[in-house]
Amino acid sequence: MRFGVVQKYRSFLPVNPGTPLITLGEGDTPLVQSTRIAREIGCDQLYFKLEGCNPTGSFKDRGMVMAVAKAIEEGSKAIICASTGNTSASAAAYAAHCGLAAAVVVPSGYVALGKLTQALMHGAQVLAIEGNFDQALQMVRTIVGRHPITLVNSLNPYRLEGQKTAAFEVVDALGAAPDYLFIPVGNAGNITAYWRGFVEYRRTGKSDSLPRMMGFEAEGAAAIVRGKPVAQPTTIATAIRIGNPASWRGAEQAREESGGLIDAIADDAIIEAYHLLANGEGLFVEPASAAGVAGLLKLARRGQDFSGKTVVCVLTGSGLKDPDTAMKTVPGMVAVPADVASIEKELGY
Ligand code: F0G
Repeated sequence: MRFGVVQKYRSFLPVNPGTPLITLGEGDTPLVQSTRIAREIGCDQLYFKLEGCNPTGSFKDRGMVMAVAKAIEEGSKAIICASTGNTSASAAAYAAHCGLAAAVVVPSGYVALGKLTQALMHGAQVLAIEGNFDQALQMVRTIVGRHPITLVNSLNPYRLEGQKTAAFEVVDALGAAPDYLFIPVGNAGNITAYWRGFVEYRRTGKSDSLPRMMGFEAEGAAAIVRGKPVAQPTTIATAIRIGNPASWRGAEQAREESGGLIDAIADDAIIEAYHLLANGEGLFVEPASAAGVAGLLKLARRGQDFSGKTVVCVLTGSGLKDPDTAMKTVPGMVAVPADVASIEKELGY
């Protein structure tokens, strides 16, 4: 039996007797030790937090379960979000679980197939606009101001409350906060939530140190790095194709208070890390999830020394979400005649 994050961490969350303890089994995701990348960068305490192991295949479930529980507590019957895909999949699943209506607004042509499939399968109304995520979010904000429907983007404060539980789990698993946390940055909610989680755990005596927060935006969508919104964000990592992050301030605060950094990472570096995770570590993540690892490789190759440090990279979503990008970047299959000799020949025997 899995209790989920709302029940497990209820003393740290806005849970009261009227809050339904709903769950799809989110949280309690593995923290796996690196093999190949650890060797490459000379860091023997490198770990990956596998957030793709959440029920809908991304970290979004941690915040969504909290936001949906509060929506139900407040008597809401419907939820809505803008999304690059994962938030919509998660919203749709929790709405289905709880009998709420869900509507999601997504940028047409820029959502990975698996995520769209999830939202549709869970019965959400999926509205694809000829515009980007930032425009979709703006529209959704207007709509929730006019109609009785709950916003479940990370502007909903309960989302980040739920998401901070991932930081708790990292500390619970390691017995201490890591020295560094590497994480992709899109709308900047997750880096904000992790920082809050680490700070709260220290304040309550559950840990006695804090990590440096190392966030990475895609180069074509690096608003925080450049210090101004990007009107036409571009990146192969569609999950973080965001030009005006809602939690911009939170990300800057995490960077400043932790002594960390927010940097930009090029698409080819994201794709290199994506492949290294898959074929060097056995971890198939979606492209956006590889951005933090790409950032770690970039810093290590520039000479930053991670030996003796404990480093955690957050792998935010499953590779199965986006088979199209995967198939476009791997060598194809080999068609062989249906006989043993032909297969042996291909195998080099
Ligand atoms: N990784 C994945 C797989 C994501 O889906 C997202 C964001 C991020 C990283 C970035 O996290 O926005 O908190 O900085 N996806 C959102 C969505 C925007 O709509 O699914 P962030």
